[in-house]
Amino acid sequence: MNKLLAIAGGSTLMYAVLSVLMAILPGIELSAVPPGPGVKQLTELEAHGREVYISEGCAYCHTQQVRPLDADKVFGRPSAPGDFAFSTPELLGSERTGPDLTNIGMRQPSDVWQYIHLYDPRAVVPQSVMPSFPWLFDVVDKAPKGVQAVPLPKAYAPAHGVVVPSPDAQALIAYLMSLKQAPLPNSQAQGAEPAAPAVAAATPAPGAPAPATAGQAVAFDAAHGSNLFAANCAACHGAQGAGVPGVFPSLAGNAVVNATDPTEHITVVLHGLHGKAISGTTYAAQMPAFGPQLSDADIADIIDHERTSWGNHGPTITAKDVAAVRAKK
Ligand code: HEC
Ligand code: HEC
Repeated sequence: MNKLLAIAGGSTLMYAVLSVLMAILPGIELSAVPPGPGVKQLTELEAHGREVYISEGCAYCHTQQVRPLDADKVFGRPSAPGDFAFSTPELLGSERTGPDLTNIGMRQPSDVWQYIHLYDPRAVVPQSVMPSFPWLFDVVDKAPKGVQAVPLPKAYAPAHGVVVPSPDAQALIAYLMSLKQAPLPNSQAQGAEPAAPAVAAATPAPGAPAPATAGQAVAFDAAHGSNLFAANCAACHGAQGAGVPGVFPSLAGNAVVNATDPTEHITVVLHGLHGKAISGTTYAAQMPAFGPQLSDADIADIIDHERTSWGNHGPTITAKDVAAVRAKK
């Protein structure tokens, strides 16, 4: 009997000690970590969006924690305790059926893209297994004042009326847009530019010799350009550059991509574009600017990928051309 009591009592005590050491003390210490510089409190709308995120179960498939591993570099810099100061309880998640969303506001800043994707992910990512969330939208005859109808591709649009986001969907997208990593001040791991896309770091350095083609002059790094296009541009323009009719323009046969003078092409990628009619179509979405995140060499490789793919035949360019256009503004 005494032995039993000793075992039960001993293990209870052990359990209590371990709980304090491994959970409670670190918890107290972490909750006292001040917010990192640039880490902002959510607005009322964003905070409501966070509740929608929780109730719709987004965290079952999406993490919000970037581990200090090479495999996680595509999602941003490693997460730090100060990042979570205003988002307790943290939505770290444990299942990554879809990509990590820690920095999604930076990676996919187009709200139009987000609305289409939320309504039906297949409309912009054909192979997606993410569920559709049509109950976060209403089908109405005419979009009410101040609300923009979601510009769905024809195959996904209802037969009658237009699709508008409900207040919950608007809050959810505002929350997603707020998910942006603030740069770390003394990050040894990433240097002074933690916002630089990790994808670039994960692929071979532009100057690295191409393995199989030694001796042959390689005009540009085709594999690098194709990877960067997949990571930065394909979400809207499609892996094959075909776009989404009426929503995101096709780059196959595009006049700017095939122009001999590359200035306009470079300008669009550096500074973004909105409101231009391309082959007679104007687009509700806007093309984000990539100048801040991508180096001249990366942009040159992406542009050369576009100029030499999908039947395009624009002359290729170099990092110097990009630098010249960048210097103009
Ligand atoms: C059953 C799992 C699952 C659920 C639940 C889910 N997603 Fe996803 N999500 C995915 C997958 C898989 C992808 C990658 C394919 C794609 O882009 O559609 C993805 C992609 C995304 C992306 C694009 C990420 C990127 O890096 O391009 C966003 C944004 C997103 N989901 C938001 C949400 C939101 C918001 C919710 C809740 C309303 C949600 N997801 C619920 C599986 C899921
Ligand atoms: C969030 C969606 C989105 C992403 C991501 C995106 N684009 Fe675009 N892109 C657009 C839209 C929308 C337009 C049309 C804008 C307009 O005319 O108002 C466009 C237009 C273009 C054009 C045509 C310009 C013209 O004047 O004909 C080129 C070239 C282009 N994008 C290249 C790229 C490259 C390169 C990337 C990746 C580095 C990229 N885009 C990423 C949405 C996107």
